[in-house]
Amino acid sequence: MALLPILRYPDPRLHKKATSVSQVDDSVRKLIADMAETMYEAPGIGLAATQVDVHKRVIVIDVSEDKSTLLAFINPEILERSGEQACEEGCLSVPGIYEKVIRSERVKVRALDLQGKPFTLQAEGLLAVCVQHEIDHLEGKVFVEHLSQLKQGRIKAKLAKQARITA
Ligand code: NI
Repeated sequence: MALLPILRYPDPRLHKKATSVSQVDDSVRKLIADMAETMYEAPGIGLAATQVDVHKRVIVIDVSEDKSTLLAFINPEILERSGEQACEEGCLSVPGIYEKVIRSERVKVRALDLQGKPFTLQAEGLLAVCVQHEIDHLEGKVFVEHLSQLKQGRIKAKLAKQARITA
């Protein structure tokens, strides 16, 4: 396994749209293992392949307290959504920024597992937020893009300042 570098907003590569995985093979399983290691090390609760500059429809999530429940989704798609919730979100690609985003309360998602078999998952609460956040990444959308233009401008300025300090 290997740690992968995570792209930082506003890197334009975060806006690339991911393509579907045509075959779930060892290279995809290796990507998922590396993404999981990178997510746990960060630490974070979700990571999309887009964030490690691999533009394939793959996400990993673990919202459990003890980091024991890794979920991997290949070619995920949301089939149904209902309700509404506002949750404070952060993102490994937008370090230090936490903002409330309104999303669906419940989602039903379909994806392929590590063996390439389809499964569906009914998610709610934090897991539902995470699924929606990570699928957004695959569409080239970062969570701050749900916020007002004014807020996005402030966040870009703050991150640019951080980059200058740490460079
Ligand atoms: Ni994110």
